[in-house]
Amino acid sequence: MIDFRSDTVTRPTPEMLKAMFAAEVGDDVLGDDPTVIALETKAAAMFGMEAALFCASGTMANQIAIKAHTQPGDEVICHKLSHVYYYEGGGIAMNSGASVCLLEGDQGRITAADVAAHINPPADPHRPLTKLVSVENTMNKGGGSIYDFNELKAIGKVCRENGLKYHLDGARLFNALVETNETPTEYGKIFDSISICISKGLGAPVGSVLIGSKEFINRSRRIRKVFGGGMRQAGYLAAACIYALDNNVERLRDDHRKAKQLESLLQSLPYVESVIPVQTNLVFFKLKPEMPTVQFLRTLRENDIHAMALAPQEVRFVTHLDITDEMMVKVEKILKGIVTNR
Ligand SMILES: Cc1ncc(COP(=O)(O)O)c(C=O)c1O
Repeated sequence: MIDFRSDTVTRPTPEMLKAMFAAEVGDDVLGDDPTVIALETKAAAMFGMEAALFCASGTMANQIAIKAHTQPGDEVICHKLSHVYYYEGGGIAMNSGASVCLLEGDQGRITAADVAAHINPPADPHRPLTKLVSVENTMNKGGGSIYDFNELKAIGKVCRENGLKYHLDGARLFNALVETNETPTEYGKIFDSISICISKGLGAPVGSVLIGSKEFINRSRRIRKVFGGGMRQAGYLAAACIYALDNNVERLRDDHRKAKQLESLLQSLPYVESVIPVQTNLVFFKLKPEMPTVQFLRTLRENDIHAMALAPQEVRFVTHLDITDEMMVKVEKILKGIVTNR
């Protein structure tokens, strides 16, 4: 099976499983799982931040951060297609009782000027109190787009000047970092909190980490407990995450190479309308009206290729560590062989 649905579908490799089996564990809710502590210490050090918290998912890490940074009735500024708003089940409203201010922006990226223009006057009791800005890098619905780091710094400056907290949904941050050669420490300097996912391109079966100050992480630990996210012998999962951080970051470039290969192939196909410019491992493309999505996906499935439609006539292919070069050859042959009805 060639599975382009997401980079979350990867299976642990034998080496990763070996690391998991060998993990020393305790009870993380009681605070004594040495492997979880090692992962949290490693993640915090990597970003030059004080502390970190192992979470069950990226959604949990983001939602904990939003709750830790806001009070009910406060407002969160983010892009209208950001995962925290668009794909987390209304969590901002349900978990934090917060309001949102949704911005537009090129391939899912917001700007410092737009953020500054949308901060509500704090003295005006009619308007929700702007408290938090959340950005996503890479930006999933933006086609895996990468932020210009100077823009992220400029947004950070606006946040500091206006007393706002600044959160990064870095589910795929490492995909950005291998392309730009920026470092996690540079990111740690400008954000109040960062969530990273280890179960996406990095290949762990489960796990995200929320990173920030000691005080923020202490509050987040309490919220994680309330969300039901305290896990006991979580060290087995943390061991996979440590293995992934040590071994699977640099190889993300290979996923990007394959995504670029898909981009050029798709651009050459008569039934493809357009492809969002590819920067990392996400390939979003639009099919022409004469190629109905259902028919396209069915034909792929008949050839053991799986992908997802995320909007009418829009399909996403995601490359990851279980996609081989042999698979790419087969995919090229199948895609070139598909014909439209007309
Ligand atoms: C940008 C982004 N943030 C957060 C998440 C949430 O991660 P999870 O599926 O682990 O909850 C995803 C998942 O695809 C994502 O793409």
